[in-house]
Amino acid sequence: MTRPDWAPYGVDLDRPNAARVYDFYLGGAHNFAIDRQMAAQALAGWPELPLIMRANRAFLRRAVRFLAHSGVRQFLDLGSGIPTVGNVHEVARAEDPASRVVYVDIDPVAVAHSRAILDGDPRVTPVQADLRSPAHVLDLAVREGGLDLTQPVAVLMVAVLHFVPDTDDPAGVIAEYRDATAPGSAIAICHATAEGQGDKADEHRALYARTPTPMTMRSHAEVSRLLAGYELVEPGLVYMSQWRPDDDELPARPEDYPGYAAVGFH
Ligand SMILES: C[S@@+](CC[C@H](N)C(=O)[O-])C[C@H]1O[C@@H](n2cnc3c(N)ncnc32)[C@H](O)[C@@H]1O
Repeated sequence: MTRPDWAPYGVDLDRPNAARVYDFYLGGAHNFAIDRQMAAQALAGWPELPLIMRANRAFLRRAVRFLAHSGVRQFLDLGSGIPTVGNVHEVARAEDPASRVVYVDIDPVAVAHSRAILDGDPRVTPVQADLRSPAHVLDLAVREGGLDLTQPVAVLMVAVLHFVPDTDDPAGVIAEYRDATAPGSAIAICHATAEGQGDKADEHRALYARTPTPMTMRSHAEVSRLLAGYELVEPGLVYMSQWRPDDDELPARPEDYPGYAAVGFH
């Protein structure tokens, strides 16, 4: 297929991609036929997926609002995706317009679109990088995004760590971000789980095996171990819809939105 104007040169149009499939689920327009085909296959086996994605996005907004209320003014959003309504900088700025946000994504479409809509905003910086290289990401966050690592930073890893396999040592990656950020810094995490999902989760994993970022779903205990060194705020690590819910629509059962979410400080 031909490359639309909004897609950067070199983007792979022949392979589905997690950022663009997620954009499709959320009702965005930055996806290709190959992404929509994969989404259609996934939806056939799991029609609730768009609801789950929206619930994840709602957790992200609640977590950022909570962190901003708690006084955090710098946000490092890892695996930020294609910008959509209720972006991190919009929520953070509602508390303090001087808040800084660095959006990091490995996907060129996500970064190109972030640049297009944020162009010229000195306090919001999109960068293309792989979160599995914390030293490089932090260097970019300081040099290009103006983050001050001597002041608290919230590291957001929402719906992204399930794209980091165990062989890439996700616990070690998180620990590097933790150790590089000032005391009082935070983490917000939301992580897909297969617990209680049976065959649906296996089929889902098989679909993502075709993308550049295959999925590793983790149990409550496994996600909990990733958060070592962080003091979790109430209610701890829970299903995403159970984390300080406000007026969001709640599922019949919390496990209907199968991802574990938490916010912690170190
Ligand atoms: C499901 S989206 C989540 C977007 C956003 N965080 C949210 O929760 O709404 C996952 C994003 O993580 C990105 N991603 C996957 N692996 C990554 C990596 N190693 N480094 C940076 N971004 C990555 C994908 O490109 C995609 O945009």
